[in-house]
Amino acid sequence: MAEQQSPETPEDEQPIKQRKNGLYPGVSDELAENMKGGWADTERRDLEPIAQAGHTARRRAALSERFPGERLVIPAGNLKTRSNDTEYSFRASVEYAYLTGNQTEDGVLVMEPRAGGHDATLYLLPRSDRENGEFWLDGQGELWVGRRNSLTEGEQLYGLPCADVRTVTDTLAEATGPVRVVRGYDARVEAALADKVTAERDEELRVYLSESRLVKDEFEIGELQKAVDSTVRGFEDVVRVLDKAEATSERYIEGTFFLRARVEGNDIGYGSICAAGPHATTLHWVRNDGPVRSGELLLLDAGVETHTLYTADVTRTMPVNGTFSELQRKIYDAVYDAQEAGIAAVRPGAKYLDFHHAAQRVLAERLVEWGLLDGPVEKVLELGLQRRWTLHGTGHMLGLDVHDCASARREAYAEGTLEPGMCLTVEPGLYFQSDDLTVPEEYRGIGVRIEDDILVTEDGNRNLSDALPRTSADVEAWMASLRG
Ligand code: GLY
Ligand code: MN
Ligand code: MN
Repeated sequence: MAEQQSPETPEDEQPIKQRKNGLYPGVSDELAENMKGGWADTERRDLEPIAQAGHTARRRAALSERFPGERLVIPAGNLKTRSNDTEYSFRASVEYAYLTGNQTEDGVLVMEPRAGGHDATLYLLPRSDRENGEFWLDGQGELWVGRRNSLTEGEQLYGLPCADVRTVTDTLAEATGPVRVVRGYDARVEAALADKVTAERDEELRVYLSESRLVKDEFEIGELQKAVDSTVRGFEDVVRVLDKAEATSERYIEGTFFLRARVEGNDIGYGSICAAGPHATTLHWVRNDGPVRSGELLLLDAGVETHTLYTADVTRTMPVNGTFSELQRKIYDAVYDAQEAGIAAVRPGAKYLDFHHAAQRVLAERLVEWGLLDGPVEKVLELGLQRRWTLHGTGHMLGLDVHDCASARREAYAEGTLEPGMCLTVEPGLYFQSDDLTVPEEYRGIGVRIEDDILVTEDGNRNLSDALPRTSADVEAWMASLRG
């Protein structure tokens, strides 16, 4: 990146906020004047609304109905410093993205109450002023960070009146009447509302927005399928380069999947777990700095996030050399059978946890069969003894967050009932730690998880990720076909 010099001009004499390290101090009047003009009018007047504009409007209407007469404030969030003057890549809050379809840092959606509903306004940073030099001298100037939409363009795209975000804190500070804000994203907005809000009421807003995302609309289902389809291609990419990973490390797998995610989507939806050999027994192995060895398994848990921020969450466990050993196959097939039982329990009207119990029962049965646990299976399940090796829940809701709807109440989620449009992962696993003295030595260091993204339909479910093979034989055939 271009290096900037320290400013010589004292802070209070600088006409506009400069980048942290300052920028080309001593701008002459002539240069300043010169930079004001000679720029083409690039305003776009032919913009179509974003594809989900109708859906975001309907989501806002439902929100309005839930909180009549109250001002509702939903911030996108701000950039976070990574070090010195570099920032992490920005990801808008899921609440903001869900209600607006916009993903701009510092943006704020304000729903202003009126008789019979709300007036929504989207507060955004407008195009850079060229008269005062902001355009090229300010850290947020478009010359540095790229062209933004004008507020008029924003109105066309998002189907909402847009206003300058630099006015939002004053507007909120002056507002009267009940207010709620989604906390944790924008400290300036929260400070402006500090004496008007309560934690309890704000939490109700967050919970509502989390629960409203439990059932996905048509647009969201389409995006989830896109995320999964890209993820399938990313898994194929990885299989094709396993020899290069063997020659280097798990990082080759991480980088290969990331390339697909960045080219076809926005990003990865979470840190890719590229776990070879015994690393597969570490549930969130994201260091990805270990060796990839023939004869061992690779557990790849990764998901592409679409440009609209919906993510897939898929796991396949595969033999690095293309063929499962007898023991690897035995463990893999047990996890497969558990996943089959879990997927079969996903249907409208089922209790959310049914799929978890179905999968756990199969795993407990196998562990008893193999002599790792004493039966009866009922007793094992009652005491949860299988969990030494099954470790985690069998799945979770999926959407804008990989673990979506996390603020939903128990009665709406974990203790709730499945409905068409819900999308969840089914991902049983068995993990035998390298230092687990309670299992025969040959089991140690083997970890297997199989994870698919399952949509609840009117009459059962649809596996969005069924383009990837799941049986041990199909995994082997798939690997052979990709490696030639
Ligand atoms: N990738 C995290 C999970 O499977 O939940
Ligand atoms: Mn998952
Ligand atoms: Mn996963």
